[in-house]
Amino acid sequence: MKKLLLHLDTDQIASAFDSVVAYDAGADNLLSHGSVTRDNVTGLVHGMIFTRGGSKLKNSAIFIGGSDVDATDSVGRAVKKAFFGPVRVSVMLDPNGSNTTAAAVVRKVLSDYDVTGKKVVIIGSGPVGQRAALYFVKEGAREVVITSRSMTRAKIITSQMQAVYDVEVTPGEAASDEDIKQHLHDTHIAIGAGPAGVCVLSKEAWGSSETLAVLADVNAVPPLGVEEMEIMDDGVEKQGITFYGAIAIGNFKMKVHRAAVASLFESNDLFLDETTIYDLARTIDNKI
Ligand SMILES: NC(=O)c1ccc[n+]([C@@H]2O[C@H](COP(=O)([O-])OP(=O)(O)OC[C@H]3O[C@@H](n4cnc5c(N)ncnc54)[C@H](OP(=O)(O)O)[C@@H]3O)[C@@H](O)[C@H]2O)c1
Repeated sequence: MKKLLLHLDTDQIASAFDSVVAYDAGADNLLSHGSVTRDNVTGLVHGMIFTRGGSKLKNSAIFIGGSDVDATDSVGRAVKKAFFGPVRVSVMLDPNGSNTTAAAVVRKVLSDYDVTGKKVVIIGSGPVGQRAALYFVKEGAREVVITSRSMTRAKIITSQMQAVYDVEVTPGEAASDEDIKQHLHDTHIAIGAGPAGVCVLSKEAWGSSETLAVLADVNAVPPLGVEEMEIMDDGVEKQGITFYGAIAIGNFKMKVHRAAVASLFESNDLFLDETTIYDLARTIDNKI
């Protein structure tokens, strides 16, 4: 029986990237739709759950993506609501690749470093930064700081994380190099999670820290997010600090993404979201 993936995107045009990864992960055919909302998704879900019964349901699955994280989460909730009892299929949510990318950056950092009891600073408060903060807390970091150029925004984000995930993340302001230096002076791990093409961490700032052991950056578009980072850096040591660049992280992200899509066809009851995708990433060898 063919493995069919209903590919739902909240953007107008369904992502070509997510389609290619789905085929590479073993889907035989994709049914791709753009402009999906919580209000128009139920019929599409019914098309998947009412066509193949019992044990055959695991050959149908749903992937939800899009650049708007809240819209994607909202479609995810509507998809869940359309299921009843065992009449359901497995689902994966990965808005803008944020879940798989954040899982990859944290797993990469942990490949040669024990984060237990350590301090982490994440520069950039977008979806990737927020998910990475969540995973570092899960891994036992003593303190995780998420910085924004606006302290008000940082506080809103950390309060939301407390409410939704019951985790303590410290809000921090990073409006200047001086602010970042202050954050890094007793920090062990720093993550560049800023937008594409913006350097968020200067050499002067990271070089001023006497405690920094690991630096990672998810921005693959020059200028890179961390000064002196190379995109291919994969555990490269510079001035006593281990560097992980965006392509090294991206290669592992692809592994996590493919493994997650492939796992959807093993049963009909998986729901892979920002928390469960990390659990899956933990089972994948992060050294290759
Ligand atoms: N390597 C991979 O496989 C992969 C996959 C997906 C994404 N990515 C990359 O991951 C990074 C983070 O993605 P995202 O979706 O979380 O990013 P995002 O939402 O576009 O940006 C992250 C945060 O950076 C801050 N920011 C925006 N403009 C800035 C500026 N001019 N200077 C300093 N900070 C600025 C913003 O926080 P504040 O406004 O709160 O300061 C924003 O929330 C991006 O570079 C993206 O390209 C990589």
